[in-house]
Amino acid sequence: MIHRCTENDFEIMYSIINDAAEAYKGVIPADRWKEPYMSKDELRRQIDEGVEFWAYENGGDLLGIMGVQPVQDVTLIRHAYVRTANRNQGIGGALLKCLLEKITTPVLIGTWVNAVWAIRFYEKYGFGLVSQEEKTRLLKTYWSIPERQVETSVVLADRKWLAQR
Ligand SMILES: CC(C)(COP(=O)(O)OP(=O)(O)OC[C@H]1O[C@@H](n2cnc3c(N)ncnc32)[C@H](O)[C@@H]1OP(=O)(O)O)[C@@H](O)C(=O)NCCC(=O)NCCS
Repeated sequence: MIHRCTENDFEIMYSIINDAAEAYKGVIPADRWKEPYMSKDELRRQIDEGVEFWAYENGGDLLGIMGVQPVQDVTLIRHAYVRTANRNQGIGGALLKCLLEKITTPVLIGTWVNAVWAIRFYEKYGFGLVSQEEKTRLLKTYWSIPERQVETSVVLADRKWLAQR
């Protein structure tokens, strides 16, 4: 049900991301919203930069994807997207659990400050929000994102990261 994405999944990954990202419309700052939210070039760049995507499949249909990216001494969970029609069925949770079982380093996740559903989702899996000061440092250390995205994002850390702080 959960497999590592291959080149054959590229188009469907692109469609899942942009369907799921509709959740951000009117929620994240207007200057951060784009259509499509993630272009094919950007998705390609993310893969080339080392984001390894995994997909949740049911009966041959891909319903959700989630990426992992090892960076220095941590692993980032990136680009978690479940199709709008398939939310709240445990798909995101199944993907997150599966990825966390494979990761041996501390884990960090960045999301939009206004994506309260995503923050609550990660908190259920033991992640905690880091302080404002810490989040800026972490986003600048482990992510390559524009300054404006740093301002409008939060970082959640897993228990391993929080314990070693
Ligand atoms: C965040 C996201 C990936 C979660 O995926 P999901 O498949 O909806 O996640 P789950 O179904 O595992 O969990 C979501 C909620 O459904 C609940 N749930 C899980 N299984 C359920 C079931 N069988 N029946 C009803 N509810 C269920 C969970 O308890 C959880 O509750 P919460 O809202 O109180 O946290 C998804 O909402 C999404 O794609 N959002 C848009 C993009 C986004 O915000 N991405 C995260 C950016 S980092």
